[in-house]
Amino acid sequence: MAILKIAKMGHPVLRRVAEPVETVTAPDVQRLIADMIETMVDAQGAGLAAPQVHEARRVIVFHAPEGRAPGTAGASDTAPLTALCNPELEILTESEEEDWEGCLSIPGLNGRVPRPLHIRYRGLDSSGAPVEREATGFHARVVQHEIDHLNGVLYPDRMADLNSLTFNTELVHFMKEAEADD
Ligand code: NI
Repeated sequence: MAILKIAKMGHPVLRRVAEPVETVTAPDVQRLIADMIETMVDAQGAGLAAPQVHEARRVIVFHAPEGRAPGTAGASDTAPLTALCNPELEILTESEEEDWEGCLSIPGLNGRVPRPLHIRYRGLDSSGAPVEREATGFHARVVQHEIDHLNGVLYPDRMADLNSLTFNTELVHFMKEAEADD
């Protein structure tokens, strides 16, 4: 396994539509998944998509630990460490919620992103077996963020208002302003 170099915003690979994986069990795909997990854990990210490690293929890895944004009825807001190939997304709600997101390809920044937080997704796990889950809360958010990467979309594209695009070191000031405005 290896820790891979992460592409930063501006690299064209992040704007390409990634290609489906043909055989999940092929050695090169297995190596890619293992390396992506090692890279994500090393970078302390919640998710990583293959284009972020310069591979324009439809592979994502993510986990949704407890204690992040909870969700609503009937779906899981947490997920174990999951690798998903050729993921498909189905939006199950019209309403959107806004929360902070960051991205390993946009280091040091966070922004508030509106997203529908009740989804269903399908794909193939690292053994090639089908996965289907209903997700809400942070779980739904991270999966949508990673699938966006496979379509060349970065979270600032989804922001309703770029005013909240904030360096980590300034977040405390943003919070103070937001409180003062309430
Ligand atoms: Ni990202």
